[in-house]
This record gives sequence, structure tokens and C-alpha cells, in this order.
Amino acid sequence: AVELKGRDFLGMSDFSTEELQYLIDLAIELKSKLKAGETYHPLKGKTLGMIFEKSSTRTRVSFEVGMYQLGGQALFLSKNDLQLGRGETVYDTAQTMSRYLDGIMIRTHAHRKVIDLARGATIPVINGLTERSHPCQALADYQTILEHKGRLRGLKVAYIGDGNNMVHSLMMGAAKLGIDFAVASPQGYEPDKRIIQSTQDVANQNGAKLYVGYDPKEAIEGADVVYTDVWASMGFEEEQKDRELAFQNFQVNEELVKLAKKDYLFMHCLPAHRGEEVSEGVIDGPNSIIFDQAENRLHAQKAIMAAIM
Ligand code: CP
Ligand code: NVA
Repeated sequence: AVELKGRDFLGMSDFSTEELQYLIDLAIELKSKLKAGETYHPLKGKTLGMIFEKSSTRTRVSFEVGMYQLGGQALFLSKNDLQLGRGETVYDTAQTMSRYLDGIMIRTHAHRKVIDLARGATIPVINGLTERSHPCQALADYQTILEHKGRLRGLKVAYIGDGNNMVHSLMMGAAKLGIDFAVASPQGYEPDKRIIQSTQDVANQNGAKLYVGYDPKEAIEGADVVYTDVWASMGFEEEQKDRELAFQNFQVNEELVKLAKKDYLFMHCLPAHRGEEVSEGVIDGPNSIIFDQAENRLHAQKAIMAAIM
């Protein structure tokens, strides 16, 4: 049996195939409980602290609502209000918060800060997005794909665009779950080399294929799922103009998706820039499941919190 009490949720690579499958199954179970109107309060009396050093719509609302639905409560802590923003150390923050809270979710720039917070804390820490990864989104996305396709193993996911936090978590998740994965990014915007290497190792163990290259057409060929994300992530806004130039042949549009499977799913973690990384016709078209993804953030994160807290 899978036992995750007390664990942190920092990245897809920290979890075994079985553990990820367990979390996805639990997310689906909690979703159906909620839809049936069943009350489920495993975290009664518990509190989650949510540290935000970047903007958020989905993460903030889904964690807060999710905690409430599990019988607990959540505190929104913005960097402007915390002493952390005035130079108090991550360690002192982690130790102090561990005396009040039962879990911490953090969204920040440097991944190192999340690792240090988890090391300093005596309670579970959840990565709510860093420059390196976005595992909560990836978990919700694989739940969404499973719900739509009825299986995961053997599918092909194509990611067209920036080699950013999103693709890092998606490709590691795919390798763990036995899904073929193809990435196409412009030169200079590839995913992190070390993450590609460790993903390749996991993919080999699980009999999954990994393609990392520069050709969107080659990547999307025969894909069951087509995924993209913004060209300039949070923290990279000043590069917007340069990136528009570098990414001009990387838009997911009606022409490109002709090369995917007929019944392909279009996915995007949101927020999206229509007319940049994706055409309006594709993101608002019949194959798009972007709001199912957004909804599943709630269910997947409830599964994470119920399992680790
Ligand atoms: N996808 C996602 O994490 O959205 P927010 O930035 O709105 O939380
Ligand atoms: N790659 C995006 C994801 C937002 C949810 C960013 O980091 O801004």
C-alpha cells in the first residue's frame, strides 16, 4: 500500500510510478465524492500556509477552496507581508511556521528556496511553482488526460514551446507514467539539460520514449495530446519581445495540429496568450480541455494534501 504521510510534494521525480498513480486515483475519488455532495473532512482542524511570491489565480483559489473542502483552512501569505520579504531567513521562517501550521505551499522564483524551506520545516511542503517545475499542474494534467482517454500508458504527449517549469514537470511525469513525450523548442530555449538526462533515464526504465528537439512538426506527429505554455513565464517578462521573435514558428495553430491524431486533446496550464503560443481557433476549439485541467487542480491538490498532511 502507498503511504505518503509526512512527505513533501516538491517534484514529480520524488515519487514512484505507483505513488503518482495512487495520487491520481485519489484525486478522481475525491472529485466524485465532491460531485456526489459527500462531506469528507480528513484535515479537520488543520491549517495550510500559502506563501506567494508570484501572481496566481488557479493555484491560490484551488488550494484555499481545497483545504476548506477537506475540513481545514488556508492562510494566504504574500511576500510583501511576511518578514521573509524583509530578509528573515528561509530557515527561521520554516521553523517558525512549523510551530503553527500543518503544511506549507510555496510559489516562488528560485527552486532552491523551496528545497531550503522543506529542509528547514518539520511539516510537509508543497511546490506551487518555481522557475524549475510545476508538479501540481502536471499531476492534475495527467488526471485530466486519464479521464479523457481512459488510459495513460502508451499515449503520446507533444509539448511545443518554451523549455520551462511546465515542460520539466510534464516530461518527468510522462516518463514515470509510461507515456511517450516529445518537446520542440527554439534553439536557446530548450528544457534544462540535467532534467532531460534524468527524464531519459526514467523513460528508459519504464519503456517510454522521449524526443527533445527543435521541430514542432516532428514533435506533434501522431500526438494524442498537444500542450503549450506562454513564451515568457513569470519573471521573464522583459524578454517578451525577443521571445516573440524566437518563437514565431512555434505557435500551436490549425495548420500544426493537423499532424496530431484526429482526436487529439489540446492542453494549456493557463494563463494563456491567444494569438501567441496558441491560436484562438485551437484553444477555444472542440479539442481543447483547458478548463477541465484548471478544475482538476482542485481535485489533484486535495489528493496531495489529504495524502501528505
Ligand atoms: N496554472 C497555474 O498555476 O495558474 P495560476 O498561475 O493562475 O495559479
Ligand atoms: N510557465 C508559466 C506557468 C504559469 C502557471 C510561468 O511560470 O509563468
